Amino acid sequence: MDRPVGEKSSGAPTIVEVDLGNRSYPTDIGSGLLDQPELLQKHVHGKKVIVVTNTTIAPLYLDKVVEALTKGNPAVSVEYVILPDGEKFKDMDTLMKVFDKAIESRLDRRFTFVALGGGVIGDMCGFAAASFLHGVNFIQIPTTVMAQVDSSVGGKTGINHPLGKNLIGAFYQPQCVLIDTDTLDTLPDRELASGLAEVIKYGLIRDAEFFEWQEKNMEKLIARNPNALAYAIKRSCENKAEVVSLDEKESGLRATLNLGHTFGHAIETGFGYGQCLHGEAVAAGTVMAVDMSYRLGWIDSSIVKRVDDILPRAKLPTASPETMTVEMFKSVMALDKKVADGLLRLILLKGPLGNCVFTGQEDYNRLRPLSYCGADVFILAFSLISKASYENVSKKWIPELKHYAPGVPIILVGTKHDLREDKQFFIDHPGAVPISTAQGEELQKLIGSPAYIECSAKTQENVKAVFDAAIKVVLQPPKQKKKKSKAQNACTIL
Ligand SMILES: NC(=O)c1ccc[n+]([C@@H]2O[C@H](COP(=O)([O-])OP(=O)(O)OC[C@H]3O[C@@H](n4cnc5c(N)ncnc54)[C@H](O)[C@@H]3O)[C@@H](O)[C@H]2O)c1
Repeated sequence: MDRPVGEKSSGAPTIVEVDLGNRSYPTDIGSGLLDQPELLQKHVHGKKVIVVTNTTIAPLYLDKVVEALTKGNPAVSVEYVILPDGEKFKDMDTLMKVFDKAIESRLDRRFTFVALGGGVIGDMCGFAAASFLHGVNFIQIPTTVMAQVDSSVGGKTGINHPLGKNLIGAFYQPQCVLIDTDTLDTLPDRELASGLAEVIKYGLIRDAEFFEWQEKNMEKLIARNPNALAYAIKRSCENKAEVVSLDEKESGLRATLNLGHTFGHAIETGFGYGQCLHGEAVAAGTVMAVDMSYRLGWIDSSIVKRVDDILPRAKLPTASPETMTVEMFKSVMALDKKVADGLLRLILLKGPLGNCVFTGQEDYNRLRPLSYCGADVFILAFSLISKASYENVSKKWIPELKHYAPGVPIILVGTKHDLREDKQFFIDHPGAVPISTAQGEELQKLIGSPAYIECSAKTQENVKAVFDAAIKVVLQPPKQKKKKSKAQNACTIL
């Protein structure tokens, strides 16, 4: 720790500069900064300010901010808009309230928006500033750990769409970020922990030394030790500022800040905004990304263990909520904004602690088999009418499943129509059970493990027999089979 930035005082702030040429700006960090009016006032443009905040933060800090803006500065008039509190209000309707206020106040471009609150307020107010009259001045006063270590720095602004998080937005930099660490005194414990997910992220993706520091100091962070918190905020802002300076518009490097976020966004969206805190979703998503990195052979197990150890110490989850299904992940992730040309790109760890990569096409091919892990049984369904489907099953899927999940039983599912024509296939693959697509889907639901179903016919026969077969396979894998007649072979797996 190089400097006690967190000690309660009204001393000079620690400044982390976001270096963006003529759009560079300072991030002032310290205790009692809202008691130093000049820090805010020097960044105000024009004579009018609109503070954007919410119903929770307004009673706590609005007066203080208004005072900081106006003390010794009577020429400035301050208005405010108080939005409902919560991620579920990070939407177009709520954003309109900010525009309504600005338009009612008859503002020209020379005024300043001030975002007073957590990441939701910061993102929304920033987007209002980016789009109102094609861009006006704005200042960030973040009041959560999440906002102080991440969202207020770097100029990513926006709102959610019902189909996906943060899908509408703009890159738009503030005039300054003022982090008064005293505001964290009123932050609920769960919100504090949520912000720590992003602190941990910096350590994992680019700052191993910081991660080691966190391993030594996590209990201090959770206990709100001011020095520890201030150091974590400063170091996080330094990391974020460096990344943003190198890649402001996320053409590459900046995307690495999204470790765990692709899964996390799916959890947040799948769950309904506001049910699972952003940092909690990111923490669960980080575990998934780290797990994938390990299974790909990119990191060693000690990193997995360190992540599994530190997250609970930070009071963060290590698994996604049980009600999240694979289908929920898939449908939401498909919409994730990092889907480019139909390819879902993920940030994964690779190499020693503190290194990560952005996955590409080759990695994607290697990632697919990861979904096989943990399956009790595979159900391969195919159309017996289509030779291509037959080829696909026999030449691609069976070898792949056997390679990546040796020993896991496979049930082949086909339609009856061409049994005569394809009987050789069933002789080659004892255990094949003819059923329909609908039946296969029923099975998939029942077993809850990955099943790959491609079948053209829609008959409803044999459902019970196939259910029974699959359950038996799961509970009691078949022994080595004796030589049987062709007819019996079709049911060997039973
Ligand atoms: N722009 C970015 O780069 C970026 C990065 C990370 C997260 N985000 C976004 O940030 C949002 C999450 O931010 P968040 O975790 O700050 O959530 P939040 O803004 O909803 O704040 C969390 C809760 O704490 C309350 N609160 C805030 N400050 C308080 C204080 N000092 N005392 C008491 N209560 C206080 C809020 O009213 C709210 O109820 C998400 O929408 C996420 O997408 C954006």
